[in-house]
Amino acid sequence: MRSAQSLASTVTAPSSEPLLDVSGLTTVFALAGGREAAAVNNVSFTVGRGETLGLVGESGSGKSVTALSLIRLIQPPGRMTGGRILFEGQDLARLDERAMRRVRGRRIGFVFQEPMIALNPVYTIGFQIRETLEVHGLATGAAARRRAIELLEAVRVPDPARRADDYPHQLSGGLRQRAMIALALTAEPSLVIADEPTTALDVTVQAEILDLLRDMRRQFSLSLLLITHDLGVVAEMADRVAVMYGGRIVEQAATTSLFANPGHPYTQGLLACLPERAAGGRLTAIPGTVPPLGQWPAGCAFAPRCAHREPRCEAAVPGLTAVSATHDVRCVLAVAGAGGTP
Ligand SMILES: Nc1ncnc2c1ncn2[C@@H]1O[C@H](COP(=O)(O)OP(=O)(O)OP(=O)(O)O)[C@@H](O)[C@H]1O
Ligand code: SF4
Ligand SMILES: [Mg+2]
Repeated sequence: MRSAQSLASTVTAPSSEPLLDVSGLTTVFALAGGREAAAVNNVSFTVGRGETLGLVGESGSGKSVTALSLIRLIQPPGRMTGGRILFEGQDLARLDERAMRRVRGRRIGFVFQEPMIALNPVYTIGFQIRETLEVHGLATGAAARRRAIELLEAVRVPDPARRADDYPHQLSGGLRQRAMIALALTAEPSLVIADEPTTALDVTVQAEILDLLRDMRRQFSLSLLLITHDLGVVAEMADRVAVMYGGRIVEQAATTSLFANPGHPYTQGLLACLPERAAGGRLTAIPGTVPPLGQWPAGCAFAPRCAHREPRCEAAVPGLTAVSATHDVRCVLAVAGAGGTP
């Protein structure tokens, strides 16, 4: 039986290629009246091996649609109309459903805000982990049972041998989240997509789960795509950040660079909402809200809420400007090589 630590050494092969290389990802939904609108529009990013990319933005900015598109779980009539999703040498955008099923859950694990999306209420936690091991041909019988208990122990579920026989509803919110993380790691994926993994939890449990994710990332040599609306979580967890607004990435940078030098007025607004950054102790919310899909402006989607708006902002979608070698900003005021703030 392999321990969590020894599993880690089997997961990754050293390579300079990113583990995940997404380019031009576009996903549309049908609107009333026969129109279609892109909830994710020409999105490109990479996640390196062992790297954590934070994908951040307010509600409705396109984060979850991006995640579901990557694993090809967009339900018709929604559909991906373009993009390349290179992952472990394959373009997921072109895989048939059978091949995709082998990637989902096996090579890419998921953690959601609501554990009951991932956990089946009618089976015990231990059964669900054992079943995953068996489906992927990783262990059967007593070995699968032992491995299930090891995994629950690895995610710090107390008394794992007994808890393996619990049904999801018998666990507290925090333990359910741990069980879901164990299930996500069962097939030894190289990438975990975590969509708001701590949003529904109270602050103490949230800190414990973030700590656990950090520990799992190290033990299993994971890459992590961490989706959150909370820049505080990003600051703690992510190596790099992509900020989304109106279905597009509006800023992308190393976490330290983004916090030191936020280049997009939207990012600056999000940072001003952080308690520790509030000017004079007062939180400044970004005025207005994210418009519903189909009502996003034609030029810069942020224009109606932007204090720096100019006529040219609404004329066309601004391109990405490289303010430094590792920092891109989608704003007409961004100056190439300037390092950040317009
Ligand atoms: N199945 C769908 N059909 C139509 N529109 C959809 C569908 N799923 C998402 N949308 C729309 O796409 C846009 C992006 O949604 P998405 O769920 O990706 O936002 P999000 O950034 O994950 O927000 P949250 O923080 O609330 O989870 C929203 O306007 C949403 O209403
Ligand atoms: S392009 Fe214009 S409207 Fe958009 S963020 Fe920049 S200044 Fe504001
Ligand atoms: Mg979401």
